Amino acid sequence: MSVRHFLSLFDLTREELLAILGRATELKRQRAEGVRSPVLEHRVLAMIFEKSSTRTRVSFEVAMREAGGGAIFLSPSDSQLGRGEPIQDTARVLSQMCDAITARTFSHQTVEELAAAATVPVINALTDRLHPCQLLADMQTFREHRGDIKGRRVAWVGDGNNMCNTYIEAAQLFGFQLAIACPLGYLPRVEEYVRGPADIEICATPQAAVAGADLVATDVWVSMGQEAEAAQRRRDFETFQVDAALMAGARSDALFLHCLPAHRGEEVAAEVIDHPHSVVWDEAGNRLHAQKALLEFLLPQKKRG
Ligand code: CP
Ligand code: NVA
Repeated sequence: MSVRHFLSLFDLTREELLAILGRATELKRQRAEGVRSPVLEHRVLAMIFEKSSTRTRVSFEVAMREAGGGAIFLSPSDSQLGRGEPIQDTARVLSQMCDAITARTFSHQTVEELAAAATVPVINALTDRLHPCQLLADMQTFREHRGDIKGRRVAWVGDGNNMCNTYIEAAQLFGFQLAIACPLGYLPRVEEYVRGPADIEICATPQAAVAGADLVATDVWVSMGQEAEAAQRRRDFETFQVDAALMAGARSDALFLHCLPAHRGEEVAAEVIDHPHSVVWDEAGNRLHAQKALLEFLLPQKKRG
């Protein structure tokens, strides 16, 4: 059987995604009871990070360690990638020694080239286009607090960035309605992420997007790699902050999610992120469980010998 990668949510079926979320919640419950099954015993994950990370790096490393395996962190500055070794050659070499590769890259094309040359599963740990691992955790978090997200309304407020694109994919796979509000010039290219029937609405204002929402989500105004645009972006996004007045237009039991890191006073007010309707710490913690379940799914069971 050919190797499976996870570059986009569409690399898995709806049924597979739901099975991974169910398994993630089971692994979380077991862990809370002190059980850590060695489901990835002796497996090694190579981790290529062109950009900074706290949650993604730690969750992958802890997932591998707790499941009986290990992880090797590779940054371009201390590997041969930084001296020009092609990503395809790196993929072939890592495939000889490691059981899977995860990569956080500037360009989405880099993870596609890595996957095309690798003979082990490649997992997207964030690119300029998509952040599918984060959406696994987001969907797990909503399910744990509110049940099935199918048919619910989700509001995305802020930048039409890699997180927004992944919410567009998730809306189709998990069957929710997505209302997007971004400043002019920062809207996502929805057509690039739609693969069939989709309930996606572009709203003129943040207020219109959050009206009746079960979930409100946002992300930073300045993503990694956009630092030179920071001042302009802060001006352009000024009226797109998720504050208590905006949340008041959502359903009274609406949840707030943010992939983190957050900038209080920019994309989110402290009164929102530090309020009980904010489940961002569960969301961050679920990265561990969701990625452990993903790794268990992607890595074929080894024969004993
Ligand atoms: N949410 C997220 O991916 O966080 P890090 O950048 O810390 O990995
Ligand atoms: N949109 C952000 C997400 C960080 C987890 C970025 O790409 O920097």
